[in-house]
Amino acid sequence: MSNWRPGDRRPDSASMLRVDQAGEYGATRIYAGQLAVLRRNAPESQLIARMAAQEERHLKRFNALMAERRVRPTALQPLWNVAGFALGAATALMSEKAALACTDAVETEIYKHYGSQLEQIDDADPELAADIADFRAEELEHRDTAREAGAATAVGYPLLTAAIRAGCRVAIGLSKRI
Ligand SMILES: [Fe+2]
Ligand SMILES: [Fe+2]
Repeated sequence: MSNWRPGDRRPDSASMLRVDQAGEYGATRIYAGQLAVLRRNAPESQLIARMAAQEERHLKRFNALMAERRVRPTALQPLWNVAGFALGAATALMSEKAALACTDAVETEIYKHYGSQLEQIDDADPELAADIADFRAEELEHRDTAREAGAATAVGYPLLTAAIRAGCRVAIGLSKRI
């Protein structure tokens, strides 16, 4: 079921791995920023801490694959370090629900991104495809967790999530290339 046609560029596993590692790294930084701001006993903190632990697992796996395959990380890592943390902290400072809206937006984009990678990757790289499929299922859980906990009740939810989703798409586009 490949979407690849003669003349299309073949999916490049190294660049996929690079952008995925950048995304998981960014996710750990967003959640770290949120956890730095949120009250430790807030119900949102418990949810976010659980998701953060899963992002840590995703990141570790991609780090290991990159080392194994000698794929260099994105040069933008220092930027995602700061931008991710700032996004997490800023949304958590707005409100607990805004922090959840951030998760809703980010996980929506990551889920879509992994979906389009799975379409491209086909059976060219079953090892990477299996990890992406595994993590994608958890990103969907994260999105649903945020929604069930009331993300959409955040003040300015439509604008906030649209802006964050646009930012994620820019970050994904840049990390593929740089
Ligand atoms: Fe993840
Ligand atoms: Fe996630």
